Amino acid sequence: MARTVRINPSILAADFVNLERDLHRIANADLVHVDVMDNHFVPNLTFGPQMVERIQAVAGIPLDVHLMIEDPLRWAPGYAGLGAASVTFHAEATDDPLAVAAAIHAKGARAGLALKPGTPVEPYLELLGEFDQILVMTVEPGFGGQAFMPDMMAKVERVRAEVDAKGRDVWLQVDGGVDRTTILVAAEHGADTFVAGSAVFRAPDPAVEVDILRELASQHIH
Ligand code: DX5
Ligand code: ZN
Repeated sequence: MARTVRINPSILAADFVNLERDLHRIANADLVHVDVMDNHFVPNLTFGPQMVERIQAVAGIPLDVHLMIEDPLRWAPGYAGLGAASVTFHAEATDDPLAVAAAIHAKGARAGLALKPGTPVEPYLELLGEFDQILVMTVEPGFGGQAFMPDMMAKVERVRAEVDAKGRDVWLQVDGGVDRTTILVAAEHGADTFVAGSAVFRAPDPAVEVDILRELASQHIH
């Protein structure tokens, strides 16, 4: 099956008081990655549903919401209901990932499952059929600007093999430290959906950077 490359800039690296301006700078991206942090699941705080609703209203491209929060069963359906195309929650934050996926689907969004670097993928492989995206974190969640962890590529390969074997259209996302160099590594190991915060928003022209990253990944995907 031919794979599609998606470049999802993370607005964690945008200017929060000029968010609309920065969203328009990435209008050529596939989805905009929106990091929701609650200061409990991760030691950092961003924003909640009210902000995400406004982002949805002005973004012009679909939202890829990444929930780094406790109790996703309570909160995830709300993000799906306000129109996010994709809502991803953490496996470590719930003991019933299938219930959360079902609640997201019931509100009409794609459901994603995220794994922190220390979380093995094997217990979740049999649930793969219930998800539309698997997010393999390539940094510890919480902050932008950290170094990409190449050790996570074994996990990416494992998910890629399972997805291909099942023949389902599950997006395989990496998030953290993705730039012009590391995107090649992630693409070669099987990722197709790339989150990049610092690399995009610290570039002189974020839109040009999105195109460059997409081109680089397309050359290394197979
Ligand atoms: C980290 C967030 C990432 C972050 C990536 O917890 O989930 O989405 O914004 O930032 P960079 O690309 O700078 O590593
Ligand atoms: Zn993220």
